[in-house]
Amino acid sequence: MLKYSAMYTIGPTKKIEAKITLPPDKSISHRAIFFSSLSSRRTKIYPFLASNDIQATLNCVKKLGIKYYQDKSSKEAIYLQGKGLYFPNNQNVDLFAGDSGTTIRILSGLLVGQKFSSTFNAGNYLDKRPMGRVVYPLAEMGANIDGRKIAKPGGQEIYPPLKIKPVSELIGKSYKLDIASAQVKSALLLAGLYAQGETIVEEPYQSRDHTERMLKSFGANIKIDKNTITLKPGAQLNLPEEIFIPADFSAAAFFIVLGLILKNSQITIKNVNLNPTRYGLLRVLQRMNANITIENQNNQLEPYGDIIVRSSYLRATRVEPKEIPAMIDEVPILCVAASFASGQTQIKGLDELRIKETDRVDSMLSNLSKSGVDIVDKDSHQDGCQITIKGGTKYKGADFSSFGDHRTAMSLAIFALAAEGESKIDDIKCIDKSFPGFIKIVEEITRQ
Ligand code: S3P
Repeated sequence: MLKYSAMYTIGPTKKIEAKITLPPDKSISHRAIFFSSLSSRRTKIYPFLASNDIQATLNCVKKLGIKYYQDKSSKEAIYLQGKGLYFPNNQNVDLFAGDSGTTIRILSGLLVGQKFSSTFNAGNYLDKRPMGRVVYPLAEMGANIDGRKIAKPGGQEIYPPLKIKPVSELIGKSYKLDIASAQVKSALLLAGLYAQGETIVEEPYQSRDHTERMLKSFGANIKIDKNTITLKPGAQLNLPEEIFIPADFSAAAFFIVLGLILKNSQITIKNVNLNPTRYGLLRVLQRMNANITIENQNNQLEPYGDIIVRSSYLRATRVEPKEIPAMIDEVPILCVAASFASGQTQIKGLDELRIKETDRVDSMLSNLSKSGVDIVDKDSHQDGCQITIKGGTKYKGADFSSFGDHRTAMSLAIFALAAEGESKIDDIKCIDKSFPGFIKIVEEITRQ
């Protein structure tokens, strides 16, 4: 039984048999809004994700002069009127990204090519997240972009607010990124639309490719060769009348793991995005003996289909650094699966997890150990931070802290449903960042 408030009390549940529909993908929703703004027509985006991060992106494009409206009869769709590559705004503008990293990092790539100055502010969590990863490479293209500098051991880092000024020209560059980051890759490719010459971005491992898919499908001059993307400017972006956004795999991940770790359960999740650069968790869980099947596959800009999970005896596995980019947001819920899998699960290459909304390595391990999960190792090695969890036993409920991080909060809620005895999570309001209906769905499927 769940009580919904900022402090959240959650007890164990018995078996679940459910068919659920989850909210549309957050990453694709952000990009659909950006690209719709850059086209020269009206585009319908549906279903609409009414989350804090998407609202932040919408508020920004509105300030930049883009008009949008929602269907009065249904809040399910949003319509944006694009105005071409240059936003209609023609004066200095103050933007607020809230706590959305995708908003500030990707939109910065578009702002450096505009003819007006912008100041990009951030909320309390995003204020502490590094921006040097977009600021330095954009500056190499000739962009006039800077931020709040703070000295760090081994150099300095840049944080919001970012200040962007117009320049007479941007020059396309060739980048070899040290980290696989879809936000950085997207910012550079979008800046490349305004640059002279080619922009080439090579990643060490492929991160989510939603931006490249849209660029290609909307008519940009783009070549994709494994982890290297080449963009030539000049082509006009032609968007379709409507963009369908499948359900978010990262939201589905919580219910996939729930269906696996509860006894005698089966959960069907409808129309989930099945982009291979996003479903790394599926590959890892299948290696752990998870019973997962896919049905009704479809393809419309992005592949999607129904995911059916059944209770499984999970076995430990080893996850290599090259697997992390395709499951970067799913590591917290993988820690939950590992807690219920027999044997020692080792997960390597977790440095990027430490600079998300919170340090998700610390947030997950400190909470899970309160319930008695055996954390065998947490350390920095040559391949970056790695952890080892010894699982496969029973756990007690505990008082958890979300650290204000949506994915930590949802992962702990799933863990608590499979633990024994009541748990508390100190703050679940943060879940609205990506998945406002999460608690409602949990209540519905555990009520039976
Ligand atoms: C996102 C990319 C990822 C991911 C974030 C959303 C995106 O971040 O963690 O939740 O929409 O491009 P990085 O690009 O920093 O890995």
